[in-house]
Amino acid sequence: MIYFDYAATTPVDKEVLETYIKANQNFFGNSTALHKLGIEAEYMHQKAKQEMFALFKLEKYEAIYTMNATEANNIAIFGVVRKAKTGRIITTCIEHPSVKKVMKELEKEGYDVIYLNVNEEGLISLNDLEKAMTKDTLLVSIIGINNIVGSIQNIKEISKIVKKYPKAKLHVDLVQAIGRLDIDFEDIDLFTFSSHKIYGLKGLGVLCFKNNIDLVPILYGSSVQLGLKPGTLDVPSIIANTKALKLLLQKQDKNYNYVRKLNLLLRKEIEHLPILINSPKNASPYILNISLPNLNGETAQRLLEEKGFIVGTGSSCSSKTKEVEPTLYAMFKDEKRANNSVRISFSYHNKESDVLQLTKVLKEIVNV
Ligand SMILES: Cc1ncc(COP(=O)(O)O)c(C=O)c1O
Repeated sequence: MIYFDYAATTPVDKEVLETYIKANQNFFGNSTALHKLGIEAEYMHQKAKQEMFALFKLEKYEAIYTMNATEANNIAIFGVVRKAKTGRIITTCIEHPSVKKVMKELEKEGYDVIYLNVNEEGLISLNDLEKAMTKDTLLVSIIGINNIVGSIQNIKEISKIVKKYPKAKLHVDLVQAIGRLDIDFEDIDLFTFSSHKIYGLKGLGVLCFKNNIDLVPILYGSSVQLGLKPGTLDVPSIIANTKALKLLLQKQDKNYNYVRKLNLLLRKEIEHLPILINSPKNASPYILNISLPNLNGETAQRLLEEKGFIVGTGSSCSSKTKEVEPTLYAMFKDEKRANNSVRISFSYHNKESDVLQLTKVLKEIVNV
């Protein structure tokens, strides 16, 4: 099997797994306990967190560890917004469900939620954002790199607009960006990511936020992690997450250039075929979304699997709900194009020969 679904999840890196196993053996104490093993575990938690901040060159930030990015997005968004009883929230119509569904809840609670449209390149208009901002805007929540097509929002310019409104905070979902693209974190008040997308373990998400931000909790229990994510910490996973980050960030530029070549090769190989390329030219090279003629995404996915390739369709969380893929629909307003889409997502693990083999099978599928 050749795996092309790295945007859904990545296999754990061998060194990361070894770090996790060792940490599990050596630091299994409950980090809240006052005995030696507890103190050691808490020390390792803080150390891993500080190392993560150093890797990101973050100063004056706090971080909490969650179960996944979905939970981190929930804690971030509800946490900022519920400080006020009413107000405006601005987001996009191409968010991951872990943001979009939170917005739907907040609408029910009476908040004024604005969904910015995107153009055919999957980008919001800065002008639209500027027009939507008001003095009552509490939060702007934007997906940094879209998980369906890989469009990259201009966070620097977005941040400049948000900063004109002192009450408004900027949250960026960086799940598809961390370890793949350079980010200027200074522009961002809160960001989220997931360890299983960076060759870390499943079961660990991260929310980082400027330490002057006070979040309202949505979970209740102990005072662990500022009371925002109470409960026993998975210190071994936290240590493994920092290891995963360290390994990936060291290779980020090299990987980026390598994956870009794979992406360009696939684009070149299929550009003359009756296949629509949905990802814009300037998208993240890690994601290439295409639509096949007269074949819905799930059928195409199954055919490709029969031939030995694992690809994605919509967001891995919503591919079972059968709704029209919202990002593609927002971009092209074309139901068929959205339904016929397949997401190919790359890694440094892929080889040029993987891409050429995939191309051969795509040609067979579209009968060329
Ligand atoms: C952009 C984006 N945000 C959030 C998530 C949710 O991440 P998790 O699976 O860790 O909850 C995903 C997962 O696909 C994603 O791609």
